[in-house]
Amino acid sequence: MESTLLPKTVKIVEVGPRDGLQNEATAIATATKVELIARLGKAGLKAIEATSFVSPKWVPQMADNAVVMRTIERLPGVAYPVLTPNLKGLEAALAAGAREVAVFGAASESFSQKNINCSIADSLKRFEPLLAAAEQAGVQVRGYVSCVLGCPYEGPVQPAAVAQVADTLFDMGCHEISLGDTIGVGTPEAAKRLIETVGARIPIDRIAGHYHDTYGMAIANIYASLQCGVTVFDASVAGLGGCPYAKGASGNVATEDVVYLLNGLGIATGIDLDALIDCSAWISAALGRSPASKVARARIGRTTPATEPS
Ligand code: HMG
Ligand code: MG
Repeated sequence: MESTLLPKTVKIVEVGPRDGLQNEATAIATATKVELIARLGKAGLKAIEATSFVSPKWVPQMADNAVVMRTIERLPGVAYPVLTPNLKGLEAALAAGAREVAVFGAASESFSQKNINCSIADSLKRFEPLLAAAEQAGVQVRGYVSCVLGCPYEGPVQPAAVAQVADTLFDMGCHEISLGDTIGVGTPEAAKRLIETVGARIPIDRIAGHYHDTYGMAIANIYASLQCGVTVFDASVAGLGGCPYAKGASGNVATEDVVYLLNGLGIATGIDLDALIDCSAWISAALGRSPASKVARARIGRTTPATEPS
């Protein structure tokens, strides 16, 4: 099925190696992370968020960031962005060979304090020298806004508050703004209202949807966002993940589920669903669990039924 109302192509930013693994309780071998990134690249992902250059005291799971960046095989045409909360993180990321980075702010004061230990205003000030240094280095900066559809500490968040932070990050030079439903509480109408409000301030093709799936609404929110014209979505293979500073938040929407949705809508992603499902099974086994992805659960150990899109 092809719909004229929906975009023809969509870009998926795979965040499994970073958002997916940052909250794991047990240490994950660097070699496992490197192999995960390699498998995702082979499955056709064109943007793979590889790690984060944050304080190892805050997020111990990402302490091997430089080794990961120095070890991964970089496929042509694939971007390997990393998170950088401050200039120190940017300098370490550049030294390790990062060519794309992301800053991360929030639309909620309490979450900003818990996650990056400063107010929203101070975080934006902190990003200024980072953005200037990244520009000098010829490195693109993505801007995340967390808690766009709800905050674990403050509850509901107004779209106007999100739009304010998103607009400021865009004006500061972030090339793309990823709207994070950090705790996965959003529903489609709320997602639409949010995107319309943010889309009135920054171009729709610079907005990305980053939906965690805590309440099982992520796919519905992506469908609503597609209808608003959003063409970039973040997702995590096997639905891995959660934020260490948002208790109870579950993983991102599973990449396999997003690809299955998009295949069904006739929207091209360039991703090989079978290879992605193999990757999902492999990383889930490595972590000692089953994939959270419904598509992977339905498909693992079976051949593609004739009625399903491949
Ligand atoms: P702070 O304690 O206020 O920082 O933390 P500081 O500048 O006072 O430094 C304290 C110590 O950290 C010092 O070391 C610094 O050198 C070190 P010490 O002297 O004590 O030995 N330090 C660093 N070390 C390595 N890399 C760095 C770095 N910066 C300082 N970049 C800070 C402030 C921002 C550093 C801290 O709060 C932090 O690292 N937070 C990161 C939290 C995080 O990673 N959260 C998860 C990612 S966000 C997310 O998941 C949401 C998202 O997915 C979207 C969504 O779902 O909404 C993106
Ligand atoms: Mg996230």
